[in-house]
Amino acid sequence: AWDSLAMTPPMGWNSWNFFEARVSEQVIMDMADAMAANGMKDAGYRYLVIDDHWVAGRDKHNNLFPDPERFPHGMKYLADYVHGKGLKLGIYSDAAMLTCGGVTGSYNFEEQDARTFAGWGIDFLKYDYCNAPEDVATAFSRYARMGDALKKCGRPIVYSICEWGQRKPWLWARAAGGHLWRTTWDSRDVWESHDNNLTGIMEIFLQQEHLASYAGPGGWNDPDLLMVGLYGKGASSSVDGRFKGCTATEYRTHFALWCMLAAPLMVNMDLKHITPDVLQLITNPQLIAINQDALGKQATTVLKRNDIQVLLKPLQRGDMAVCVFNRAANGQSFDIDLKKDLALWQPFQVTDVWSGKPVKTLKGQLGAHDCAVYLLKAGQK
Ligand code: DGJ
Repeated sequence: AWDSLAMTPPMGWNSWNFFEARVSEQVIMDMADAMAANGMKDAGYRYLVIDDHWVAGRDKHNNLFPDPERFPHGMKYLADYVHGKGLKLGIYSDAAMLTCGGVTGSYNFEEQDARTFAGWGIDFLKYDYCNAPEDVATAFSRYARMGDALKKCGRPIVYSICEWGQRKPWLWARAAGGHLWRTTWDSRDVWESHDNNLTGIMEIFLQQEHLASYAGPGGWNDPDLLMVGLYGKGASSSVDGRFKGCTATEYRTHFALWCMLAAPLMVNMDLKHITPDVLQLITNPQLIAINQDALGKQATTVLKRNDIQVLLKPLQRGDMAVCVFNRAANGQSFDIDLKKDLALWQPFQVTDVWSGKPVKTLKGQLGAHDCAVYLLKAGQK
């Protein structure tokens, strides 16, 4: 059923930040090959999402068609290829006549476009909101029109609502048929942008705290795509080279925090050239298990002490995930008592996620912007 299409946060890859308007059939096939072969598919990554700039226009029957140069064999061919790798294909449109990139959008053609996508074998639709009216009533009705069209199109298609959190979509996106909804403007490949119009990873993180109650199996807060591994090379996320990217430690914390937040895990980097350390991070089995836990809870902050912030994510069977995060730009030590600090009185077996080793105490040193993650298994051994 519709409601069960995203029982855990969707995982995959999106073309936007790295390839921007250069997305093509060849790019998607290369990414599919890489994802199927490099361990990402085994770790749970499934969707390859073609973002903006794929549309050439409408044909004489008003059917959307892709840019013939970049998608010479058409979308059905590409979907068949991706499905042949055991993966799923996502696509993009906009709730107006034109997308953000200025190509044809789906407004007034919702049912026809949903049928077109279904006919091609599309599994995921990201639906943007450029060039559409500002008010929430119009946004809701335009998203619901596409949501209804997708429900009727004859194929299960995950519906990703992308209006950037401006109209509090966490309150209405599920009613519009959405499975995930962006909560902020676009993430940039920088730890903190210190600019109100631009959203660094920390600016986005700080806007998720009050939204935890809206996330759960079937519908997820979406704090945007993962900047992990871009290192300033993303066409869009670097804002024309203005942002040079983050440190390996910051990407590691970014990924861990998004796992704690039960966020969709959508990477952006060129998978053909992914480095072993980035691959190891994004396929970390314990972090993925925390993110994909069936209970579907988004972590909340349970303790702030100086610059140390502790997040707690309840997991199924009474297990817990704890992330100890150093917000400071210098090193900090921490010593967290499960009982006294976090009110966790029941017995747990604790594993340090970075080392994979059992530990007795949550105690240590954290460098600038670093974090520790602990998996707490309920019960004594
Ligand atoms: C705005 C969205 O928020 C981005 O994720 C991306 O889809 C661009 N539009 C594409 O133009």
